Formats: sequence, structure tokens, C-alpha cells
Amino acid sequence: MTTPQPNSTAPAPEAPQVSEAPPAPQAPDWWRDAVIYQVYPRSFADGNGDGMGDLPGIRSRLPYLRDLGVDAVWLSPFYASPQADAGYDVADYRAVDPMFGTLADAEGLITEAHRLGLRLIVDLVPNHCSDQHAWFRRALAEGPGSTARDRFHFRKGRGENGEQPPNDWESLFGGPAWTRVPDGEWYLHLFAPEQPDFNWDHPAVHDEFRSILRFWLDRGVDGFRVDVAHGLVKAPGLPDMGHTGEQLKLLGNQSLPFFDQDGVHAIYRTWRTVLDEYSGDRIAVAEAWTPTAERTARYLRPDELHQAFNFHYLGTGWDATALREAIDASLDAMRPVGAPTTWVLSNHDVVRHRTRLGGDLARARAATLLMLALPGSAYLYQGEELGLPEVTDLPDEVRQDPSFFRDTGQDGLRDGCRVPLPWAGEEQPYGFGSGGSWLPQPADWAPLTVQAQTGDPASTLELYRTALHLRRTHPGLGAGDAVEWLDAPDGILSFRRPGGLVCTVNTTDAPVRLPAPGRPLLSSSSQLPVLDGDFILSPDTTIWWEE
Ligand code: GLC
Repeated sequence: MTTPQPNSTAPAPEAPQVSEAPPAPQAPDWWRDAVIYQVYPRSFADGNGDGMGDLPGIRSRLPYLRDLGVDAVWLSPFYASPQADAGYDVADYRAVDPMFGTLADAEGLITEAHRLGLRLIVDLVPNHCSDQHAWFRRALAEGPGSTARDRFHFRKGRGENGEQPPNDWESLFGGPAWTRVPDGEWYLHLFAPEQPDFNWDHPAVHDEFRSILRFWLDRGVDGFRVDVAHGLVKAPGLPDMGHTGEQLKLLGNQSLPFFDQDGVHAIYRTWRTVLDEYSGDRIAVAEAWTPTAERTARYLRPDELHQAFNFHYLGTGWDATALREAIDASLDAMRPVGAPTTWVLSNHDVVRHRTRLGGDLARARAATLLMLALPGSAYLYQGEELGLPEVTDLPDEVRQDPSFFRDTGQDGLRDGCRVPLPWAGEEQPYGFGSGGSWLPQPADWAPLTVQAQTGDPASTLELYRTALHLRRTHPGLGAGDAVEWLDAPDGILSFRRPGGLVCTVNTTDAPVRLPAPGRPLLSSSSQLPVLDGDFILSPDTTIWWEE
């Protein structure tokens, strides 16, 4: 164990060596400790100058992702879609929307990602489709009683003339989860009216989705992020949910008759057999909002899916006790099923973690280093590596989140994390493309661009690069299921990982003096004062130590 020198500072982040790029994607179990970077296609990079991100834009920036040090890229939907919910309303699961490119672009992107040693995961949206999907159009055209309607949830309404929705279910975007069509029947949509829910009691729906899985697996994708994975099966008879008066929360861990029904697991067992037919560890990650971590683990039994997002962790505030409980509960829940725990702080549905945790960049950086020190796999959302804040002052006329347009919706809560990335330059669109950007970027983002941060050892981008590089090389980081908590004062987290890594976190707003547990590897703040073998852990700071 080396004792840091008096008044030393944390080591400057090293620029990652491109020659140490990841091996070609062949390692089995790669997903157990993978860092998976979410690309939101419309906001990542615009290749054709129309102000909207696209697949050629993403392809041109893959070297950036390789150099950042992530293992895989998850692409949010790029399929043919009227974009009522930014592509989560799919009209054709086997076609690329022209605004994003062509099927050949998608194939080229997969090939190029693999060439660079990156894996590629695509989004699969099985709970619902678009109201422009051929099946739904047919269901509308063929009318009540037709077999085409059986693939969705069509019902007669309540009330004398069927003028009331069939039950009291609410849409996650606000308002009733049912819409009436001109012939008098109602159809179910847990999200926007343009997103009718499939009826997963119908064998054709099962067949179709297994075929869609194969379509993309045949094109080489490394897996799927399964949208609303907990929603496919509804409670028999579609019983009322009982109103609490509260708006349902996207990513909320609520108990409802249309979520987390036991019957959903049979679907994932059949999907697992499809995934296992293909070489090279193809995975599926569940977006499943469940009441407890134990319920989430059920999606990850050995014959089901591989990973699930850890929304219990995402929903935990910057509080040492709550974080420790969430970490322990997550690890404890996954151990019996042998699945890796995952960690996530930001995605395209929530307020960016910098803003959510209080607005302070120091805290956001500390939260990231804590997350990346935990055993298992971690998900990053594009732009968090630049320390981007939520954009909170978007004018109403540019907002596109469907919930914004529903009376009881969630205040357009998701546009602010979807603002296009700043890559370079002094003004909008900051190198996002040669045209504008579909959502305006703030006028003060020039210091946050990739270009401005590259090579600056104090920048958040270089912090991420160094941290991800260390995750690759240090035996105490990455896969596993154990953390050993060390004694620490209130508000401080300190844990050891097998492999000789100690992580200390100060969640308070006061500095704390502690004995140095080893040699500092990386700190989320630039200063690390050391005094007589003790060190000062600054407020909102995480430090990785090598024992
Ligand atoms: C998921 C997606 C979200 C989308 C919803 C409906 O929660 O992450 O963006 O609106 O499903 O598909």
C-alpha cells in the first residue's frame, strides 16, 4: 500500500490509448460487466444536415464511442414510424424510417461497430405498435368482431351506449388508456392513442415478434433492449386499477393490473431460445418497472432475459444511507438468479442526473464514479459524459413529448434530456450537423462540446474516458456481485471490491478527513489534499483507491 505524498493531487486523467481498444466482439459473457452507451438517434449526430440525427451521423461518430471506452451501443428506435412518441410507435419493425436512413445504413452501422470492437443493441417495442402499423389499420378497417381486431385489445364501452371506457385504466402519458373508434368500440393504449397495445394472448403476435427478433439477429445485432417488458400481459378480464388520484409515473415502480403479470415470463422463455440459437452471446435487457428488485430479478432467471435496468437505483437520491440500501438490495436480488446487476443514472425518459441530483456538476461526476465502481454492468446516456444538464427552458412550441399534449400529462418532462449533442464550435448546432437541430441547444453550451473538453484533464469527458479505461484494466472493477462496506462517518460511503479497489464517496456538503485506504487512482474532483496519511474527501466527491 502506498501512502500519498503531502498535498498531492489526484492523478491527472490519462488519455485512453486507441491501440487498447476493446478486443473484437467475441468474449463470452461480455455483458456481465459491459458499459452500454445509449444513443438516441434523433439527437446524437446529423449526417445529412436536416437538423435530425440519423444512422450515417451515428456511424461517423462510432470512433468517438470506441475511444470513450464503452463496450456496446444501444440504439433507441430508428424504425419506420410516424414519430408520435419519437419512434416508440413503430409502423414497420423491419424497416428504417427514411428520416434516419435506410436498411443498408443500419446494416453498415452494425458492421462498422463490430469492426471497431463495439457491440450493438437495438430497441424492440413489443407492447404496442403505431396506429399506422398494417395490423392496426386492418383492425380498424375490418370492424368489430373481425379476427384482425383480436391482435389488439378492442372492447365495447361501459354505460348505456358504451360511451364510457371499458375500464378505469390510465395512460402513462395522462388521460384514459382507451380511445373510441367511430364504430363505437374502444381500444387499449397504455401510452399515446397512436400506440395501440398488442394482445399477447394471440399466437400471431408471438410468431411475429420471434420473427422480428430473427430479422435483426440475422443482421448481426448483439441484442435487444425490450421496451416496457413488464407490460405485455394484462391481468385476465382487464380489472379496474382503482384510482389513487396520482398521475402514473413513467419508470415508476408501481403495482398495476397491466404491469408485471406472471404470464409475461413465458414470452421471455421463448425469446431466450431464439437468442440462444445464435452464436456469440446475444442478449436482451428488460425495461421492466417493478415494485421490488426481487420482482425485477424474475425477468433474469437463467432461461429468460440477461439484464434489466435498475430503476430502483436510478430513483435513489444523493443520500448515503439510501444509496447503500439500494445497492445492497440490488445485489441481493440478482445473486439467486445469477444475473449481473446493472446501474443507470440517466436515459431518454428522465431528467438528466446532473440536474436531478441538484444541478451541481461535482455531484453528477461523483455519482458517475460511484456507479462505475459497482459490480456488474452500467448504462450511460449520451451526453452525460459531457456533463450536460437538463434543458429546462424549452419553449412550448418546440416540445414533442406526447405527454406534454395530454391534459394531465407529465409537463413535457422528457424533451429537456433529448436536446441534440454539442460536438464542436462556438454556436448552435455545435457540430451536431450542418443544419440546425430539432430542439434548440442552449446558447451557453460551447464549453461543453466534445471538442472543448477533449484533452482538458479537468473535463467531465476526460473523467469518463479515464474511468472507463480503468474499468477495462483494473481487476477490482467490472464484473462481480460483492461489495464489502467499510466503516465510514454519516454521509460517507466506503466499500472494497475484491481485486483491491476501494471507493469512497462523500454525499455531504462538508469536507471529511479520513485515513487514506491506498493509492488514489481517480477522483471526481480535481483536488485531493493529503495530510499525514489522511486525506480530505471534498463534498460531493468520489475517489477510487488501489489498495
Ligand atoms: C418506454 C420508452 C419511452 C416510451 C415508452 C412507450 O418507456 O423508454 O420513451 O415513451 O416506453 O414506448
